Amino acid sequence: MHPKAFYPHGVLPFPRVKSLPCRVVVGGFFGDEGKGKIISYLALRDKPDIVVRGGVGPNAGHTVEFKGEKYFLRMIPSGFIYEGAQLLIGAGVLVNPRVLLDEVERLRCGSRLGLDPQCAIIEERHIEEEARSSHLVEKIGSTKSGIGTCSADRVMRRAKMARDLPELSPYIRDVPLEVNRTLDRGGVVLVEGTQGTYLSLYHGTYPYCTAKDVCASAILSDIGLGPTRVDDVLVVFKAYVTRVGAGPLKGELPREEVLRRGWMEYGTVTRRERRAAPFDFELARRAVMLNGATEVAVTKLDLVYPECRGARRYEDLPEEAARFIRDVEESVGVPVVLVGTGPDAGDIIDRGTHK
Ligand code: GTP
Ligand code: MG
Repeated sequence: MHPKAFYPHGVLPFPRVKSLPCRVVVGGFFGDEGKGKIISYLALRDKPDIVVRGGVGPNAGHTVEFKGEKYFLRMIPSGFIYEGAQLLIGAGVLVNPRVLLDEVERLRCGSRLGLDPQCAIIEERHIEEEARSSHLVEKIGSTKSGIGTCSADRVMRRAKMARDLPELSPYIRDVPLEVNRTLDRGGVVLVEGTQGTYLSLYHGTYPYCTAKDVCASAILSDIGLGPTRVDDVLVVFKAYVTRVGAGPLKGELPREEVLRRGWMEYGTVTRRERRAAPFDFELARRAVMLNGATEVAVTKLDLVYPECRGARRYEDLPEEAARFIRDVEESVGVPVVLVGTGPDAGDIIDRGTHK
């Protein structure tokens, strides 16, 4: 067969222009590391042509704060904040059309949105069925978003696809083709993961995990991008560890201690209280390995070292906080390139890329 037959749009794989950075951002603990804030900062800084989301589905919750506005996102990529970016959702993502269309309206980003025709659709019956499953709700601590039941239907090849729903037709796009073509012509692509490494179905704390793998290579597979096309993998850690729902959490602090330290958080999707523990170097080291990280971000440093609040230069960090960052680097073996020092997308120390 002529190779062109594989490329209906007439694009041949070679020769290929050397791509500008394509960066994948994933969580290094149990989700809620503050990926939303890191991604929104990177989108504003790097002005990507495309921000594309892989990951699980609307069981994810990201909070983005920018210029006094607070946005909660479950389906739209957190990089929406940069208005020049196309916002794509890869085939691996499970889509709840109600949640998606509601966000499109709220953020007025419909003209920039592209959805892979093969995103599986979460129906009301998936949510109802999940809510009735004491295994998922009581034992695992599911967010009741219909992720488990919809994933099961997808594996059984009976889930509906985005291409089957007329209300989604304005948004259907060839996501892998657009992402790869943009890189071919030297464009910038920012890839967003969801959840965190230890919620991975394969490498996480099974059975207390989500319904898919969420490590960097899985996120690439979700969007149809091969691993050779990626320049950087950024793993995001919070300066302490939290987890929502059941499952092991080493060093877990009693609730009163979590409150005393100001580390109490509430789930973005479920509003449930999160459990918390101090930073876990061992988990961090392993997350860097599992994701092939080239760089790391640490968020919420100001919640462990309050004097850091709002700092924008590494030199302004108190010695103790700077030592913690150095300890993280030494322990995981890759540089900490971004440090979160406050809630706004701009409250960040940017130490530049390591290259
Ligand atoms: P992901 O699911 O990883 O995207 O994180 P999330 O948005 O669920 O994180 P979480 O709900 O824990 O935290 C979000 C809130 O923390 C938002 O209001 C952010 O603005 C804020 N936040 C993010 N990074 C920092 C930081 O470095 N310092 C402080 N004080 N707040 C931060
Ligand atoms: Mg979250």
